[in-house]
Amino acid sequence: MKQILSKSIVLIGSMGSGKSSIGKILSKKMGVRLSDTDKIIEKEVGKSIYEIFNELGEKYFRQVEEKVVGRVLDETAHVISTGGGSILSSKTRDAIKSKSFSIWVQCNVDTISKRIHDQERRPLLKNKNIVDTLIKKNKERIKFYRHADSYIVNENSNIEMTVDAIVKELLSKKVVNK
Ligand code: S3P
Repeated sequence: MKQILSKSIVLIGSMGSGKSSIGKILSKKMGVRLSDTDKIIEKEVGKSIYEIFNELGEKYFRQVEEKVVGRVLDETAHVISTGGGSILSSKTRDAIKSKSFSIWVQCNVDTISKRIHDQERRPLLKNKNIVDTLIKKNKERIKFYRHADSYIVNENSNIEMTVDAIVKELLSKKVVNK
């Protein structure tokens, strides 16, 4: 059955919480596009996230991130998976609030540290104690994640079940109409 999205769905939450994986499955299920903002940034700048942080600095990365998230939010309704620090920008937070239905993807830091392999996209974790760094980052960011319209706990190894729970929530909140 065709499902109609009334607004874009934005996935926010900590590095490694599973936003990109959930985004891929969710967008397929909804029959809409996926914007993975980290991937868009890499393509537009022509460098990996690691290179951007290393060569151009985090401030530059955040400026591009703000522009990219703002732009995809203005496109027709689809699924948007964001980097964990995107909500550090008040402009981004306001745009997410007014233009989308946001979901905070939650995951325990111990589970994340076991899942994380690709550090090219996570320079903030490179050569660091992953659990300690994630706890520190979450402390600064949780106040922003909390403003999401909904949340999902992504601890289940069966990600399809997690996505099904999201779809159910979207139907009940009328973000998706059958
Ligand atoms: C970051 C999260 C990363 C990526 C960059 C910075 C962050 O994305 O945008 O490494 O500050 O939390 P994921 O949340 O997909 O890991």
